[in-house]
Amino acid sequence: MAKVIKYEFVEELMRKMTLSEKIGQMYQTNYEGSAQTGPAIDTSKTMDLIKEGKLGSILSLYDNDTIKRLQLAAVNTKNKIPLLFCNDIIHGCRTMLPINLAMSTSWNPKLVEESSKMVAYEASHSGVQVTFSPMVNLSRDPRWGRVMESNGEDVYLSKELTKSYIKGYQQGNLKSENSIGACIKHFAAYGAAIGGRDYDGVDMSEGELFNNYLDPYKEAIKCDVAMMMSSFNSYNGIPAVANKYLLDDVLRKKLGFNKVVITDYASVNELRKHKVAKDEKESAYLAIKAKNDIEMASTNYLDSLEELVKCGMVSESEIDEACRRVLNLKYELGLFENPLKNIYSDFPKYWLKDESRAIAKKMADESIVLLENDGVLPLKKEKVSFIGPFVKEKKVVGAWGGKCDYNDTVTIYEALNNKNKKYSYALGSNIFDTSEELISEAINVSKKSSVVILTVGEEQWMSGESHSRALLDLPSSQERLIDEITNLGKKVILIIFAGRPLVLTKYKKMYLEGKISAILYAWYLGTESGNTIVDTLYGVNNPSAKLTMSFPYDVGQIPVYYNHLPSGRPIEDKNNTDYCLRYIDMPLEPLYPFGYGLSYSEVKYGKIELDKDKLFDNSKITVSISITNTSSVKTKEVVEMYIEAMYGVVSRPVRELKGFNKVLLKPGETKKVSFTINKDTLSYYKGSKKVNCYGKYRVYLVSDSSKENFVEIDYSKNTK
Ligand code: GLC
Repeated sequence: MAKVIKYEFVEELMRKMTLSEKIGQMYQTNYEGSAQTGPAIDTSKTMDLIKEGKLGSILSLYDNDTIKRLQLAAVNTKNKIPLLFCNDIIHGCRTMLPINLAMSTSWNPKLVEESSKMVAYEASHSGVQVTFSPMVNLSRDPRWGRVMESNGEDVYLSKELTKSYIKGYQQGNLKSENSIGACIKHFAAYGAAIGGRDYDGVDMSEGELFNNYLDPYKEAIKCDVAMMMSSFNSYNGIPAVANKYLLDDVLRKKLGFNKVVITDYASVNELRKHKVAKDEKESAYLAIKAKNDIEMASTNYLDSLEELVKCGMVSESEIDEACRRVLNLKYELGLFENPLKNIYSDFPKYWLKDESRAIAKKMADESIVLLENDGVLPLKKEKVSFIGPFVKEKKVVGAWGGKCDYNDTVTIYEALNNKNKKYSYALGSNIFDTSEELISEAINVSKKSSVVILTVGEEQWMSGESHSRALLDLPSSQERLIDEITNLGKKVILIIFAGRPLVLTKYKKMYLEGKISAILYAWYLGTESGNTIVDTLYGVNNPSAKLTMSFPYDVGQIPVYYNHLPSGRPIEDKNNTDYCLRYIDMPLEPLYPFGYGLSYSEVKYGKIELDKDKLFDNSKITVSISITNTSSVKTKEVVEMYIEAMYGVVSRPVRELKGFNKVLLKPGETKKVSFTINKDTLSYYKGSKKVNCYGKYRVYLVSDSSKENFVEIDYSKNTK
């Protein structure tokens, strides 16, 4: 396992510290006026603890004057140790980006990095020294509320975007005035909670963990991520925060992480609710033995660790190791030299700059997904009406809104006016209720136009932490509005706002029946939402996003994800399914597959080319394809590379994403896109052991995970 670094400055400081002062560094609390992200806790002793040098860090405090006052109090004590200020800046500080799940549909790591750098610029001037981001939990269950802050259902894509977030936040220099430390979360497998129910347990094989859940953390460690957070869920019967296998054997020893692990909010208290600890002392014991360095919010460490050391159950060297990691982080952030780093009383002047909004707009433009289009989009000179609760809705930021002010959001309504568009408008329905009067007004307005843009969706608090859903429908008042409007014989464009995949089967059917002409998925696109939506409707923005979570036909189909394992009775012949149906009442495939998304262009995929079709342990193959934009508008196309192992030592998924490349194509332009395949591309885990699976593979170069365009290669041991 990688040794914890020893900085002489830190070692000298620790030699002067008492045991209780070291334990103080392992405690993070809220402070009055800071946002609660969990059950309220008593913060009345906070200032006393600061003055006694017994508090290490504070979360969710935004007021920079208070932060400054507390910091000055902290460095004015015997050990002069600065506090560390952490916050949940997940997809924007004041200028809000789209929710992370939306950003993942851009398949654009460079743009996610640029966006994260903008977030760091605002946060590093707003009292944030470490952000509890990126959240990289693999998300295969749309019922789970926290899919909105994830990178979706694929580990390869999540790994690539994890790099982008951390590089954008940290910029390779934690001491820079424009950077913040990143805290990757939640370790581990939180997104696999049973039933998509937040905080529920996770039962998972080692092979599943190693193949689908660890790569983003490995990547984060390579990017020198500043901190990692353990998760609320239990993993195979032991809560992650007390799980030595996860946090010590895997994270510390196997992955070599030697920086700070922080618990999630009061998760050490929750060990009593998980029924694995009978009291505070045992909770603290389990958490420190699993090598959590900082306890967030609850005070089991503060109340019990000293006694645990005195009775010999915990050694002082274990305390030293945790305290050292915390002080090392503060040292690497430059807080000892400059305790007021990132703390600015005039922080608003760093917010909402034109260049920041421009980045947010670019990110939103590449995050809106075109699901269906019969040619009605982009709009030309039609007489249009805008209907529904999201035309004027400012709350299209999504959960974890940082320091956002909803008034900053550009709504569709404001964007139409700013861009001098001619249109008519009617509310038609609120998010959760409507009336005959609202409905009839919407019908009358729609009748006078040739195209109706109908905006519907989840209220933004229907997703996020503690907001899982058992059903994935729209509120019934909006269903009523859709039914009324789509019966008018107009061309209807449905724009859906949500923090997760919803069940769209009914609307796809309406599309096939010609009652709906186009479907756009607008997630929550943040501050520039309205500008992106209007630019997309009128063709100024050519949508290029592709789904990173499968959309189910129905909740009953969940879990449904593209890289599922084969079965002994695959449906080879759709006409002869006597003995291989997986459901008798629903297909196996999702309504919309992973990697799917349309644009206003047509991109033709050519023949796949191989420079050779034999691979050995020490060789590589280049696989290429030429793609052509046959339309008259420029476009960005994501070419996705999947592999399919035709047999191996373990049963492997029917597809595995192993590369992607987003290319800009001018009208009529052809570009060749190439990928390299080597033994690592094809490796897999059998349990926790990486194995080389020799044999035949299919290599797909396609526009989404459902497309069949492949070549075959053969991977065998070295001949010599
Ligand atoms: C919350 C979340 C975690 C967040 C933390 C601090 O409960 O689980 O993602 O960073 O508490 O707000």
